[in-house]
Amino acid sequence: MTYDVAVLAGGLSLERDVSLRSGRRVAEALGGLGHRVTQLDLDEHLVTTLSRGGFDVVFLTLHGRAGEDGTIQGLLELLEVPYTGPDSVASALAWDKSVMKGQWRRNGLPTPDWVRVTSTAVRDMGASAALDRVLARLGEPLVVKPGQGGAALGVRLVDSADDLARALIAAFSYHDVVLAERHVAGTEVAVSVVDGEALPPVEIVPKEGAYDFVARYTHGATEFFAPARLPAAALRRCQQVALDAYALAGCRHLTRADLIVDASGTPWLLELDTCPGMTETSLLPVAAQARGWSFEELCERVVGLAVAGPSG
Ligand SMILES: Nc1ncnc2c1ncn2[C@@H]1O[C@H](COP(=O)(O)OP(=O)(O)O)[C@@H](O)[C@H]1O
Ligand SMILES: [Mg+2]
Repeated sequence: MTYDVAVLAGGLSLERDVSLRSGRRVAEALGGLGHRVTQLDLDEHLVTTLSRGGFDVVFLTLHGRAGEDGTIQGLLELLEVPYTGPDSVASALAWDKSVMKGQWRRNGLPTPDWVRVTSTAVRDMGASAALDRVLARLGEPLVVKPGQGGAALGVRLVDSADDLARALIAAFSYHDVVLAERHVAGTEVAVSVVDGEALPPVEIVPKEGAYDFVARYTHGATEFFAPARLPAAALRRCQQVALDAYALAGCRHLTRADLIVDASGTPWLLELDTCPGMTETSLLPVAAQARGWSFEELCERVVGLAVAGPSG
């Protein structure tokens, strides 16, 4: 079957360029498979275009706010156009890191201890005076990150109260809720789930320093091992945790869980990504390859799931 597919990419988020790269690659793959593909960006005509367009399905490669927080998903639900990826409620839940972590904690899934700090607490209630408590509770070093967002923007490693204050202020420029999280030393792994199946875990090894924006989107800056070089039991635990996270948030089609596996083999959940990158250096395509699916097969499979219906 071939379909009229709208590939939605770009948007206004900080991840616009990455999204455009994902979108171009998906559009080329689907075009090569014989689908009729239209690339769309976010603008004020979007609803009119989508209502008139006669599209069978929208392939979402909109990373960041509006694309991943349930906004576009809610709009597409209203327009009754099938689309790829988790629905608006699952997207909104996973987009908020502290809310998602709270759900994992309540349901017994491993996620590093954290403290949630808001800009209101710091600016209007004097929370800076309690920063030493944050350090005492979580230990050093810790990781400071915006409560919403992606691409490692605003993420910093912190090992003193002064550093913590600076990192919070920096992170507040991305979002007014910030997480201070216990740092987990170990192997960084991403586990993609496609239609309830966990793909081979991908181990992430930046050639220099942290897995930051540059390490993510510069070709050759990060090495991937798929499957990750971990004992079979640890690989299975990673896959199980990623499946549990997918199910708990009520996801469908595709997600990617980011984890750190510590020396004991425990996979600590950092976040659940509901619109995983599809660029040349992205993790889901690497995992699909290790599963034996080409990029084209991955795209075809996801389109098929979306066309099949909401429970597909
Ligand atoms: N608690 C932590 N312990 C160790 N490294 C972390 C921790 N939290 C984040 N990191 C590092 O920072 C990166 C970005 O964090 P993440 O929570 O996945 O946010 P983003 O949405 O920006 O990808 C991760 O890929 C990982 O390298
Ligand atoms: Mg991440």
